Amino acid sequence: MSVLTIEKLTASVGAEITGIDTDRLLSEDLAGPILDALEHNGVLVIPGLHLAPEAQVAFGRRLGEVDYSPGHHPVAGIYRVTLDKSKNSSANKLKATFDWHIDGCTPTGDEYPQMATILSAKAVSDKGGETEFASSYAAYDRLSDDEKERFASLRVVHSLEASQSRVTPDPDPETLTRWRSWPSSEHPLIWTHRSGRRSLVLGASADYVVGMDRAEGRAILDDLLTRATEPAHVYRHQWSVGDTVIWDNRGVLHRAAPYDHSSPREMLRTTVLGDEPIK
Ligand SMILES: [Fe+2]
Repeated sequence: MSVLTIEKLTASVGAEITGIDTDRLLSEDLAGPILDALEHNGVLVIPGLHLAPEAQVAFGRRLGEVDYSPGHHPVAGIYRVTLDKSKNSSANKLKATFDWHIDGCTPTGDEYPQMATILSAKAVSDKGGETEFASSYAAYDRLSDDEKERFASLRVVHSLEASQSRVTPDPDPETLTRWRSWPSSEHPLIWTHRSGRRSLVLGASADYVVGMDRAEGRAILDDLLTRATEPAHVYRHQWSVGDTVIWDNRGVLHRAAPYDHSSPREMLRTTVLGDEPIK
């Protein structure tokens, strides 16, 4: 019998864990079952956990190596997600999270996409601000056999310009130069994981298909993203203060629903670094 009480939230993505508190979460014997549940469900929701920032980082360390990049928060390993510029000076860049994406598709160096993200709600908005998830494994599984074969060799260039230009369609020359100075990355459209499972690598950063007419390639990418994120295949998390959500960034697309920019919404994020390249 599993040591976790888990209930699926949709057929393809998301599960809720109940009967758990911070002490249990940090116990040694739970990291394995949680990683297992994450692999199978893509997203784990623990409602009303009220995880303290230090405990969140400690939990992240149980799952893997934690990202300690500066996060506009006093606790190392916590990144503050808010549109309030007084709390996070790079709040503007976060607006790109309103589009479906996979984190870490345009790294600055040779780092792999993050393995998991832990997000806890400190303050929520009255309206909007839900986080939506869709399984990129299920998106692959739903392709026809013919599509699986046709797309097997496709490679896609991902860029910061592709994701930022959706938020700012008419950038000034200086902004455009800044975007273009960020390295782009080429990934296969279909990611074959170490586990043998396959997923689609899609989202706002996907710019164009290598060696294909731009419009033709864009049509394929747009169609695949639309199908991957059809409402019937999406779990939408409506946040309450104290909720913690963990997602497997390798097999899940996510986005935030828009919310009022003056809203107090504040999420504390811990990133568990990845150790698996997209290939
Ligand atoms: Fe994200």
